Formats: sequence, structure tokens, C-alpha cells
Amino acid sequence: MKRIFSGVQPTGNLHLGNYLGAIRNWVRLQADFDDCLFCVVDLHAITVWQEPDALRANTRETAAAMIAAGVDSARNIIFNQSQVTAHAELAWIFNCVARLGWLERMTQFKEKAGKDKARASVGLYAYPNLMAADILAYKGTHVPVGEDQKQHLELARDIAAKFNHDYGTEFFPIVEPLIFGAATRVMSLKDGAKKMSKSDPSDNSRINMTDSIDDIAKKIRKARTDPEPLPGDIKGLEDRPEAANLVGIYAALEDTTADEVLERFDGEGFGAFKPALADLAVEKLSPIQDEMRRLMDAPDHIDQVLRTGAEKAAALAAPVMAEVQELVGFLKP
Ligand code: AMP
Ligand code: TRP
Repeated sequence: MKRIFSGVQPTGNLHLGNYLGAIRNWVRLQADFDDCLFCVVDLHAITVWQEPDALRANTRETAAAMIAAGVDSARNIIFNQSQVTAHAELAWIFNCVARLGWLERMTQFKEKAGKDKARASVGLYAYPNLMAADILAYKGTHVPVGEDQKQHLELARDIAAKFNHDYGTEFFPIVEPLIFGAATRVMSLKDGAKKMSKSDPSDNSRINMTDSIDDIAKKIRKARTDPEPLPGDIKGLEDRPEAANLVGIYAALEDTTADEVLERFDGEGFGAFKPALADLAVEKLSPIQDEMRRLMDAPDHIDQVLRTGAEKAAALAAPVMAEVQELVGFLKP
């Protein structure tokens, strides 16, 4: 059986990278997979401090973005993580399966914890175990994410394999990452060496899903580039990360390849390319933004979608968790 699981953290500033790297791909996949679970991962969000009111608002906004982007809440399960207890329960078991040495290799922890590791939460360290639990509580098989999550998914595979080995079963599937599209790693508009991120202090580094049309155009106009004209193919962008990023964004928005975009803009400067990109971004994003606003005006509806999703998700996780408890040796409740 094939089952999709993916998640986004409700940490605010949902951006173009989240859309092009993840959410848009979910919309494509929902046609090919019968079973898709899309989760607002609030337990992951609190691994760094979240103001409670902001967390509530961001949870709704993240769900609204999924629905507005075209994830069908009738066909798929859209829910938030804290409403299904299996996530936290299985995460604890995985805390006892994963090894400290595995977690020590995680580059995201190193980036997020910064220099003063002693002050990071224990949750931030154990974060990838919870992510493995998210997927495996449903025996998820395929996980569409951006490039930055690859290492976490390798860990999820290691955890599944070790659990299976330790308990002598073939219980958990070995998950497959699905990383595809022209923008699997959207970079900051201000620095082509950094990924576009919700937590970048510079708002000009990212295009937020809630940005106004004017802000989208302004941020693209101000994006860092170089003085060279665009080359005729992707090889010509090898040492030009900022230019490569904007071309990648264009290709992803238009659903084509970077080479196809460069064929069209061969020899043009950014004076011509940036306005074309701004127009395209506005054309593709503004219908989603309109729908997000409409949904955010009716939070009760979003809450209802999430509640229904959580009920369906809990029903799928229950038999998996019952078997896990049996395998581990816990007494039946
Ligand atoms: P997060 O914002 O960390 O909750 O990420 C949610 C999803 O968006 C994950 O699948 C990430 O891999 C993806 N994502 C986040 N940032 C980027 C980016 N800059 N480029 C492409 N995908 C991204
Ligand atoms: N860690 C992911 C991110 O920050 C979000 C996430 C949590 C996730 N659980 C998941 C993604 C399970 C895929 C599957 O991007």
C-alpha cells in the first residue's frame, strides 16, 4: 500500500519555498495516491518558543494555505499534529530506538541551535524522531518535502529499520522521499548561499504567502543579482547562485524547466527578467492569497476541517499503535 504523509510547521511567515518545495507538490500527488495525510505540525513548532496566540493563528493560517493551494480536504486528511496522540506516543518509543550518534549528525539541529547548544530545547534535538513518528504512525510510505528534509528522512528510514530489526519484524515500511520540481531548494532573495526561511530576520529575503502584490513586486525588484546578462542554458549559471535561484523560481512557477526559461531570456539582463518574474509570481500567487484570506475570515470552518481530519487520522493510527504496543511488550489497555 502507498500512503503519503507530509507536514509544515505553523511557525508563521509561510513562504514561496514552502509552496514550491512542498505544498504545490502535494496538490499534484493527491491525484495519484488514495491515501494522503497533510499535517500542521504544531508539536514540532514548539521545539522553539511560540507565543500561544500566534501558534493558534499560524496553525489556522497554515491549514488555510494548504486548502487554498488546492489540497482537497474532502479527499485527503488535513489535520494538526497535537490533536492525534499517536504522534507523541510513537515519538517516545522512537526516542528509545534512535541513537544519540544519529541525531548528532543532523545539520538542521546544528543550524537552529547555533553556538550555544546547551540552551536549545531537548525537543529540538529529538525533533527528527517525532518526524519519523508522524510518518510511521500511519505506515506512511512516500513523503513529499523540500531538499532540506532529506537528512531527516534518512533518519526515519534508519529508525524504521532498527525497530524492525530489534523486534524481529517487517512492521514499518522504509519511507521514500519525494523531492521534485524546479525549486526543491528556494534560496534567500538576499543571499544565494542561504535557503529561504521563515526565521530569516530580513523580511526582504523571502516572499511570504501573505505578502501584498506590491510587496511581491518590490521584493523581486530588490532581490540580489549580478550585472551579467542571462545565459542560454543552465550551465552558464553555475557560479551565479542568485541568478540561478530566480530562474529556478520562474521555472517552478511556470511549471517548466530552467533551460526552457533561459532559452527565452537568453542575453537579457535582470532589468527585463525581474518584472517578468514579478508578473508571473503575482499571477500564480494572488488567487491562492485571495482564497487564503477568504478562509481566514471563517476560522470555524478551518477548525472543523482540522477536527474531521484528526478523527480520520486517529482512526488510521489506532491499529498501528496497537500493534506497536504489542510488539514492544506493553500490556493491553
Ligand atoms: P518548514 O517551513 O520547515 O515547516 O517546511 C515545510 C516544507 O517546506 C518542507 O517540506 C520543507 O522541505 C519545505 N521547504 C522549506 N523551506 C524551503 C525552501 N527554501 N525551498 C524549498 N522547500 C522548502
Ligand atoms: N520537519 C519538517 C519541516 O520542517 C516538517 C515535518 C514534520 C514533516 N513532520 C513531518 C515533513 C513528516 C514530512 C513528514 O519541514
